Amino acid sequence: MKVKEEVAKRLEEKLQGELERRKILLMLEKPKYADMGDLAFPCFELAKVFRKSPQNIACELAGKIKDPIIEKIEAVSGYVNVFLNKKMVANEVVSGVIELNENYGSINIGNAETMIIDFSSPNIAKPFSMGHLRSTVIGQSLSLIAEKCGYKTVKINHIGDWGTQFGKLIVAYRLWGNEAKVKKDPIKELLKLYVQFHEEAEQNSTLNDQGREWFKKLEHGNEEALGLWKWFREESLSEFEKIYEELGITFDSYHGEAFYNDKMQPIVDLMEEKGILEESEGAQVVPLAGMPPCLIKKRDGSTLYATRDLAAALYRQETYGFSKSLYVVGNEQSLHFQQLFAVLKEMGYNWYEGMSHISFGMMLKDGKKMSTRKGKVVLLDEVIQEAVSLALKNINEKNPSLENKDNVARQVGTGAIIFHDLKHHRQHDIEFSLDDMLRFEGETGPYVQYTHARASSLLVKGQFNKTDEVEVVDDELAWPVVTQLMAFPEVVKRSFHTYDPSQIAKHVVELSRAFNQYYGAVRVLDDPIHKQARLTLVYSVKVVLKEGLRLLGLKAPEKM
Ligand code: ARG
Repeated sequence: MKVKEEVAKRLEEKLQGELERRKILLMLEKPKYADMGDLAFPCFELAKVFRKSPQNIACELAGKIKDPIIEKIEAVSGYVNVFLNKKMVANEVVSGVIELNENYGSINIGNAETMIIDFSSPNIAKPFSMGHLRSTVIGQSLSLIAEKCGYKTVKINHIGDWGTQFGKLIVAYRLWGNEAKVKKDPIKELLKLYVQFHEEAEQNSTLNDQGREWFKKLEHGNEEALGLWKWFREESLSEFEKIYEELGITFDSYHGEAFYNDKMQPIVDLMEEKGILEESEGAQVVPLAGMPPCLIKKRDGSTLYATRDLAAALYRQETYGFSKSLYVVGNEQSLHFQQLFAVLKEMGYNWYEGMSHISFGMMLKDGKKMSTRKGKVVLLDEVIQEAVSLALKNINEKNPSLENKDNVARQVGTGAIIFHDLKHHRQHDIEFSLDDMLRFEGETGPYVQYTHARASSLLVKGQFNKTDEVEVVDDELAWPVVTQLMAFPEVVKRSFHTYDPSQIAKHVVELSRAFNQYYGAVRVLDDPIHKQARLTLVYSVKVVLKEGLRLLGLKAPEKM
């Protein structure tokens, strides 16, 4: 980072105020090929300003710039190509990591302002699907990245615990349910009832009417309805809790949809007051420019998902005073969020500008969408168990005498699942494949964890002692590792600005690759003269891998 700033500073001086340093920093790029240097500055934009060809400008700049950190500078096809002084840069980078440890790459963008992250948010009485897993791991990682960038986060699990489906479920339970069975395996049993309801409702449409009726009873506080609903909710939450525990995820709030039951009327009144509410075929709607109107109340007076989200947005602004608020929810809800933000705008709440829908693609199985209703869903707790037992099998083959095997297998198994998700850009659909997730080579969680463990054991074997006196390795072979370490702070910043954890995932894979190549080519422990310097580099790799994994929500075991 500092290295790039230094080069930008020199360019700024020679550009006679034509470009700000910030802009120069953005323009400095990494050349495609190593023989074109380490940083390249394009001069095309300057041609108009100076009325010279880009190549002439590049030549002039290259002739004037001098700095100890620059070893060589060349003008090629309109670019200033900068070759860095490797030894100096390596020293700068490694000293930075050694000094800051896990704080390397931290940056204060948020000024301790509050960011709400609404994520995971499964629906009670339904299984925690692979789709909800996506929201969970993306949301978790975004909150860790936001904290590293100086935000205070509030992690909210907006549980789906209200809506007409609970009327249906109550009907199904009263017709076919069995208490003991539900207690034994709540989610599976409730799902079965839900599926059965939909199958039977295809033949018998009065079931749907009964469902609506029971939902009404629930809304009016009917004791039997409320009792069943509460019970379904508790049983479901305790099942979800197991998954969060496995994944190492915690929330600051579990206020779900039902929490807003008594908070909707005030906001509906406000809409009325502001004159944005209209009647349409007996229902209450807010008409919106360029999109369908937002339905606020149905003809029978019942509220909707959107009504609850409006009440929640207001409640969150009043309670937390957020400057940013993220909703980590699949692509299919993008209209819902556009409408939500547009209604808030209509209401005159400028803070809607800080809200974003962080959307993501689908989890596919054999190229097809996974759906809950037909029961064709991969149950996440089963997936986790399978991943963990495969990881254990792997450990038993590769390192049978490892201590704490079960614990490590948990960290590797869950890590594999999380990493497999986060390495893809969130907008892409992902093909679910346990085999892919658990491979020890290629772009996988276990590969990065394994590289971290390898670095850790090297440090133990070499009896590495961190000292203030940083001795830096200057072999050419270390350079690809150094440049990866150097890039980390920028990767963190970029992944924050684009809400994209995949950049960190890709970066830790690249760093692992560079390190493994280095490890294969250099006898780190065999050369007494260079040993300490090389171990310092290994230590820096360990720190950055561990921190990168942490930002994704993965543990980094010392041994594997
Ligand atoms: N429970 C919803 C679902 O599973 C997601 C809720 C997302 N959060 C929100 N505030 N709408 O589809």
